[in-house]
Amino acid sequence: MRIFATSDIHTDFKDNWLLLTQLSNILYQNDALIVAGDIGHNLSLVKDTLEMLQAKFKMLFYVPGNHELWVRGENQHSLDKFFNIIELCKQIGAYTSPVELEKCTIVPLFSWYEKEFDTDKNPDLDRLDSWSDFYLCKWPESVDSIANHFLSLNQDRIKSYSKEVISFSHFLPRQELIPSRKWLRFKGLPQVAGCVRLDNQIRAIRSTTHIFGHSHMNWDVTTEGVRYIQNALSYPKERVNREKPIIKLVWSDEV
Ligand SMILES: [Fe+2]
Ligand SMILES: [Fe+2]
Repeated sequence: MRIFATSDIHTDFKDNWLLLTQLSNILYQNDALIVAGDIGHNLSLVKDTLEMLQAKFKMLFYVPGNHELWVRGENQHSLDKFFNIIELCKQIGAYTSPVELEKCTIVPLFSWYEKEFDTDKNPDLDRLDSWSDFYLCKWPESVDSIANHFLSLNQDRIKSYSKEVISFSHFLPRQELIPSRKWLRFKGLPQVAGCVRLDNQIRAIRSTTHIFGHSHMNWDVTTEGVRYIQNALSYPKERVNREKPIIKLVWSDEV
């Protein structure tokens, strides 16, 4: 089996939807695809996208990103929407919990960002006020720390696995997976990008390869024994003059 990864497929952009529909219906029928979040906020589009990809792969793994949890005029908060999406995945057979395969186990990890991820003591927060999650995500008052809440949802999957572990999340687990602020167009990004305690979970399950998304910056680096990969399709405007493969091969037991 081969495992491919993508993230930030944002299929509310027609170009992105079309690119994904052009993936072969034949080549990947023995393979798994990891979609590391950010399909879009429209639930029926999330369903259509997952089903379209499921038809192309043997197995489809997914965690919701921040865009999925936007509640625009919907009569529910973002956590309800999160669990609705998990339920939807169950119904259609997309995997959001660990699955042991013949030679490895794929472990989805839920996450949210926290501002402590930002190492800058005096950060430039240019345009952070307009970050859409602050307006479009609604959380129940009982949730004190959103990052803590999502980490706690992983509790029963933080254990030792007998086979090699491939994990994935939407958000960034390590600060070095984002470029220095001076290179960022959106200076507020480190405040809304990741959660370092997520890396503790990745280490606790002895993951060898972790797929992440969110920053729309592709990455493939091995740090302290773990390979961290982002392969984000990103927005159409972000693909101008930049190579953004639709899917990336991240693991294979084929010789
Ligand atoms: Fe995204
Ligand atoms: Fe995101």
